[in-house]
Amino acid sequence: MSNRIKILCTGKMGQKVDEALDARYDVYRTDVLGLDEIIAAHGQEIVGLVTRGGIPTNEALIARLPKLEIISNFGVGYDSVEVAAAAKRGVVVTNTPDVLNDEMADFTVGLTLATIRRFPQADRFVRTGQWEKGAFPLGASLRGRKIGIAGMGRIGKVIAKRLGGFDVPVSVFMRRPQPDLGYPHHATLKSLAEAVDVLIVVLPGGAGTKHIVDAEILEALGPNGILINVARGSVVDEAALIEALQTGKILAAGLDVFGREPHVPEALLQMENVVLLPHIGTATHHTRGLMAQLVVDNVISWFDGKGPLTPVAETPVPAHKKVEKA
Ligand code: 8YV
Repeated sequence: MSNRIKILCTGKMGQKVDEALDARYDVYRTDVLGLDEIIAAHGQEIVGLVTRGGIPTNEALIARLPKLEIISNFGVGYDSVEVAAAAKRGVVVTNTPDVLNDEMADFTVGLTLATIRRFPQADRFVRTGQWEKGAFPLGASLRGRKIGIAGMGRIGKVIAKRLGGFDVPVSVFMRRPQPDLGYPHHATLKSLAEAVDVLIVVLPGGAGTKHIVDAEILEALGPNGILINVARGSVVDEAALIEALQTGKILAAGLDVFGREPHVPEALLQMENVVLLPHIGTATHHTRGLMAQLVVDNVISWFDGKGPLTPVAETPVPAHKKVEKA
C-alpha cells in the first residue's frame, strides 16, 4: 500500500483540483466509488476531505473519518459543512474567500439590472417573433430606486462599491455591527426592507439566516420591490416569495440560488416577473480557477506543516501548525 497522504473528495472538483491533488496524494472520489466503499477500505487513513457546496459534510461523516485533519471547501459559503462538529474534533475547515468578490459583485449588479430591465424576457420577446408585432412594453427602471444590501461581508462591500457608479442611494443591514462603513445602516432587516425598493441578499447560509427573508420582509419591501438573491436559497422562504410574487406584494425577483438546487419550483418557472439562474455567480473560468487553486493550496500548505491559508473563523488552528512569520 502506498504511504502517500490519503484524501477523500466528495463532489466534482474539476481538472485543476484533480490533477494537483493526484500529483501529491492518494485521492478517493465519491463520483468513482461509493462513499461507504471508500470509508470501509480507507476511512482509518483519510486525513483530508475536499468538498463543495450542496454536498453535506455532517457530524456523522466527520465521525467516520477518525484521522481527519482538514476539510477544504470549494466555495466561500460553507453552510454545507457542520463546522461545530469539525471544531469539536479539532478539524480545520477552509473556504475560498476574497478571490471571488469582484466576480460576485459584477454578477450581482448584472442580475439586478437584468431583473429590473427584464433582459431575459426581452430576449425571449425577440426570439419568439413578438417584436414583429409591436414594441416590448415599457417597464421598471433603476432610476429613482433605493438599494438595500443585506450582508456586508467581503462580497457585500464590493457590491456596494460597484453600485456607487450608478447614482443610486445604498443602505445596509448586517448581523454583526461593523465600524462605520459609510452607508446608512439599519438595525433590522425589516427596517432596511421598508426603506428600499431593491433588496440584495448576500448573507451567508446556515441555521442563523434560514428564511430570514420571510413574508413580513417581502411585505415590507412592497409592491414596487425587487428581491435579488445571490447568497443561498435557504436565506429566503421560497413559499412566501412565490406568494408575494403571485399576489403583487413585490414586483419581481432575480434568483441565482434556490432552496433545493437544482430543483426550481414549478410556480417560479411559470412566472414572467422572475429571472432564474442556475447558481452561476462564480461560474467563470477565471474565478473558478482562482477558487480551485485556493482549495488545493490550503490542502498542500496544511500537509506541508505550514497551516491553513484561509481557515474559517469557527475552526481552530493548532499552534504547531501555524505558519512561522518570516
Ligand atoms: C459555488 C458558492 O457555486 O462560493 C460559494 O459559496 O456558492 C459558489 O461559488 C459553489 O460553492 C461551488 O461549490
